[in-house]
Amino acid sequence: MTEFLVVGGNGNVGRHVVDQLLDAGHTVRALLRGQARVPALEREGVSLVVGGIEDGDALARAMRGIASAYVATSDEEGSVAAFETFLQAARSHKLDHIVRLSALSADPQSPAMLPRRHGEREKALERSEIGWTHLQPTWFMQMMLEYAPGGIIAVPGGQGRIPWIDTRDIAAVAVAALTEADDHLGQTYELTGGVPLSYHDLAREMSAATGRSFEYRDIAPQDYAAAMREQGHPESYIALLLELYEGIAADTKAQLRLGVQEALDRQPISFARFCRDHAEELVRQL
Ligand SMILES: NC(=O)c1ccc[n+]([C@@H]2O[C@H](COP(=O)([O-])OP(=O)(O)OC[C@H]3O[C@@H](n4cnc5c(N)ncnc54)[C@H](OP(=O)(O)O)[C@@H]3O)[C@@H](O)[C@H]2O)c1
Repeated sequence: MTEFLVVGGNGNVGRHVVDQLLDAGHTVRALLRGQARVPALEREGVSLVVGGIEDGDALARAMRGIASAYVATSDEEGSVAAFETFLQAARSHKLDHIVRLSALSADPQSPAMLPRRHGEREKALERSEIGWTHLQPTWFMQMMLEYAPGGIIAVPGGQGRIPWIDTRDIAAVAVAALTEADDHLGQTYELTGGVPLSYHDLAREMSAATGRSFEYRDIAPQDYAAAMREQGHPESYIALLLELYEGIAADTKAQLRLGVQEALDRQPISFARFCRDHAEELVRQL
């Protein structure tokens, strides 16, 4: 079976990419910075290279003998330059396919920071002459596992709706792209769940699945910013989040996209099923 490189195997999507590749009988090499899942990954037989995508030595060890990679990173300042370093190494190791976790609305011309940084990395990948597949998901259902401390979702989201997606679906598209590359090379998959849900809808579904009480409090953007500041988040990150919530509150993020259906020929996982599958973890926040 083929060996695939996974970058971001600790992450919300990457952990499922690792699991699904192993379940399908493939071999996985993971490039990791954080130690969070190292023992679990070692138990699963994943070979580990410690380092980030800006670390040339780690990249050389991670890429030797590899043809295809899944890549997810964060979006902080420097992430575009770091991805260019990754691409240079990928070219010199003759990788022929990179499946990259991007985001819906990625656009190098966007005035908003997050879509712009994703768009710039997508364009860099397209220019690299390495085969590519872009995954452009909306917000992850898995965020709800930490989103409601004490049972309260307190964000400035108004009545806006999002067709939240389960990261297991994103991972399934990534795995299809890695393992059946001919069907997915050069494709951009816009990925959402099947139904746009407001924060009130989320709280209702979480309560129904767990038998416990979850509620949504639509707080003012300045109160949200103050709470984030108190938690020690940097101003640039707070600005990025405020920008995102402004769009949500204006209900600009509700449109359904069909990437899951196109890539996998099935419907996306519903939020009700996500809540049932993660009921214990949801309740841990209370
Ligand atoms: N959260 C959402 O709802 C959402 C929605 C749409 C798109 N996205 C996009 O998905 C991506 C992942 O976001 P997330 O919130 O899901 O974060 P996450 O799960 O924490 O994933 C980030 C992963 O990237 C790895 N990573 C970060 N910088 C790296 C570097 N320089 N070198 C190697 N690995 C690096 C981290 O590895 P270590 O643990 O080893 O440090 C971590 O596993 C972001 O680009 C985000 O814009 C997120």
